[in-house]
Amino acid sequence: MAKLCFNILFLILTNLFIAGHVHSSATFTMLNKCEFTVWPGILSNAGIAPLTPTGFALQTGESRILNAPSSWGGRFWGRTHCGEDSAGKFSCVTGDCGSGKLECAGAGAAPPATLAEFTLDGDSGMDFYDVSLVDGYNLPMLVVPQGGSGVNCTNTGCVSDLNGACPSELRVTGDGGVGVACKSACEAFRTDQYCCSGAFGTPDVCKPSQYSEAFKSACPHAYSYAYDDKTSTFTCRDANYIITFCPSPNTSKKSSESQKPGSGGSTNAPFDSNMVYEGALGVNAAPSTTRSRVLGGAIAIVVAMWRLCHRF
Ligand SMILES: *[C@@H]1O[C@H](CO)[C@@H](O)[C@H](O)[C@H]1NC(C)=O
Ligand SMILES: *[C@@H]1O[C@H](CO)[C@@H](O)[C@H](O)[C@H]1NC(C)=O
Repeated sequence: MAKLCFNILFLILTNLFIAGHVHSSATFTMLNKCEFTVWPGILSNAGIAPLTPTGFALQTGESRILNAPSSWGGRFWGRTHCGEDSAGKFSCVTGDCGSGKLECAGAGAAPPATLAEFTLDGDSGMDFYDVSLVDGYNLPMLVVPQGGSGVNCTNTGCVSDLNGACPSELRVTGDGGVGVACKSACEAFRTDQYCCSGAFGTPDVCKPSQYSEAFKSACPHAYSYAYDDKTSTFTCRDANYIITFCPSPNTSKKSSESQKPGSGGSTNAPFDSNMVYEGALGVNAAPSTTRSRVLGGAIAIVVAMWRLCHRF
């Protein structure tokens, strides 16, 4: 009996060691560098447990750390211009999740919204992540991996202000006609060609449009349309992630510098290239933490098993 017991203990021990090694958890630090409050929303993928909380307010300069378990997958976005009506119903002008409350509780972002998408431990211990403009754009976002490894374990995001630069046919305006978001061509025109649906539902057939190309030119590392995987999907092993809203302080800079004659004008119509800010992709304002392993619990279980075995 004691032998069997120790065999089981050995099995559990090795399994926990492997699991602890491959399936480690990660932290997400959300940081708001916008000059206004952002209300992050978080949606876990189908069948994946929600993170806590699923929505909250983040004041200017504030950061908040969220812990994600192993193999978590889902998306983060920022809601803007939020408030409660007289009946206490919470809603936002952009990125609203329709829950009527601060927390999104399983509801996703109404487009247009910039999304940061993650799949932890997606394949052989690698995390997959991207910043997507496929559902349009509402805020500049930057994802910075911390302490991870891998050939393309690098920053990604869209640091440009595409609200000011958004062509009128895609523009979403708030109070006073100010641009607060920029629709994708799919959202604005609802054709299979722009949405890569129906007869256009394969990568061979669905090509970039002038609109997606303009997004891509402003934000080369972000997804600009559904089949933009090659230049937009990044991978890390054992990283934590900092997600920053408005990473550059100058993203909403007005186009005061007039275009030099002979500089060729805007080759990337329909976006106004003066409004596009190619900011440095560096962030160092948020705390960096070492990626936590699930070993604490494992040790406790092993100690308990050890005691149990000694009873026989
Ligand atoms: C990152 O690496 C993955 C896996 O090799 C690859 O599929 C993807 O295209 C790479 N992404 C970039 C932006 O180079
Ligand atoms: C932002 O703009 C201000 C004023 O134009 C300038 O002093 C500052 O250096 C700029 N910052 C960056 C990061 O470009």
